[in-house]
Amino acid sequence: MKLVAIVGTNADFSYNRILLQYMKWHFRMSADIEILEVKKLPPFNEDLPDKEQTEVWRFNTKINNADGVIIATPEYDHSIPAALKSGLEWLSFNRDIMKKKPVMIVGVSYGTQGTSRAQQQLRQMLLSPDLNSNVLPGNEVLIGNAAKVFDKNGFVTDINIVHNLENSFTAFNKFVKSNMRYLEEGDDNMTEPHISSDALIKFRTGSLSIKEIQQIFNTLPFEIDFIDANDNFAYFSDKPNREHVRHTAEIGEPVQQCHPPKVWPIVKGILDSFKLGTSDHVERCLPLNGHKVWINYFAVRDEFGKYLGTMEFTGNVGHLVSLVQEGKFDGFPDATTGASKHDDSDDSEEQSGPTPQVDATTGASEHDDESADKTE
Ligand SMILES: Cc1cc2nc3c(=O)[nH]c(=O)nc-3n(C[C@H](O)[C@H](O)[C@H](O)COP(=O)(O)O)c2cc1C
Repeated sequence: MKLVAIVGTNADFSYNRILLQYMKWHFRMSADIEILEVKKLPPFNEDLPDKEQTEVWRFNTKINNADGVIIATPEYDHSIPAALKSGLEWLSFNRDIMKKKPVMIVGVSYGTQGTSRAQQQLRQMLLSPDLNSNVLPGNEVLIGNAAKVFDKNGFVTDINIVHNLENSFTAFNKFVKSNMRYLEEGDDNMTEPHISSDALIKFRTGSLSIKEIQQIFNTLPFEIDFIDANDNFAYFSDKPNREHVRHTAEIGEPVQQCHPPKVWPIVKGILDSFKLGTSDHVERCLPLNGHKVWINYFAVRDEFGKYLGTMEFTGNVGHLVSLVQEGKFDGFPDATTGASKHDDSDDSEEQSGPTPQVDATTGASEHDDESADKTE
């Protein structure tokens, strides 16, 4: 289970941060908790230029890809700190990131009320239409007298607080898992007809079952992503060791949200050129994590040329390059077999359209920043 935990203050020293660090350690066997800082975000401003929103994009993406969110809020003047409010505004701004996301609220304060008023307000905010989160009901982690609760190493010293944390976290664990099951089974699992994975799809050139199609895509030595005609991220092949790491939480999201703001204009340029029909293929060679990565965007069209979406075809071609360098293709006669009508024609030229005048920097991945930095 992958969780993110938001430190709800921009203060350098924070008991709430210490609490989250303690939870990350204490619950390490049941959850992978990554701590996120609202202090890295710019203050919310809907007019902030896209190119200055890289941290916002990073923050949003991590939350989008998590199974659940823990928020640790201090109490400032009986409410939540402005820095946390600003972070929530970024999350709700034109996005569905927090929608149905399981959230657990915890809080530490100096006073005896243990952030109860701030937490009440935070619950209310998370239920607003633009955040619309699933807040864990019936559990409260209200820790007062902050200065006495932790020892100098950040361990909680009060056994009652530890028990309360464990009970609440167990409840949250179950809450997140039931949410994951719900997402896997789908909203309309009960009403939609079920299609068996043995069902055969008949193509002009043969038949394949749904299971075979899935496994062929997963077995290809190249990874495939598909962006639909409405620019939503629709599919990625489940190939092991992908160059571009994708998450199921991104499925159905506008593809813009899968890219850092500074890369998006380039990707949009490619998609627009496909939609306009001025281009059908964009190719890019990019070193990534020491691999020679070959990325191809292809316009996918129906038989009448109508745009159906974009396929991104990506793979590490290091092995192929080595084969060429080792002369594995040299010194043999052409091995034409006559197995196909095309074999004796020159098939080395790819039939692609005009080369688009657009930089093909890729793509929806954790490497995006890196590739953008290298190309700008
Ligand atoms: C501007 C401000 C307002 C505060 N208001 C409250 C409050 O309403 N209730 C409370 O219990 N503590 C209040 N405090 C004290 C906080 O509980 C204390 O600073 C706590 O350590 C904040 O959490 P942190 O250590 O994670 O930053 C306030 C502190 C600040 C700086």
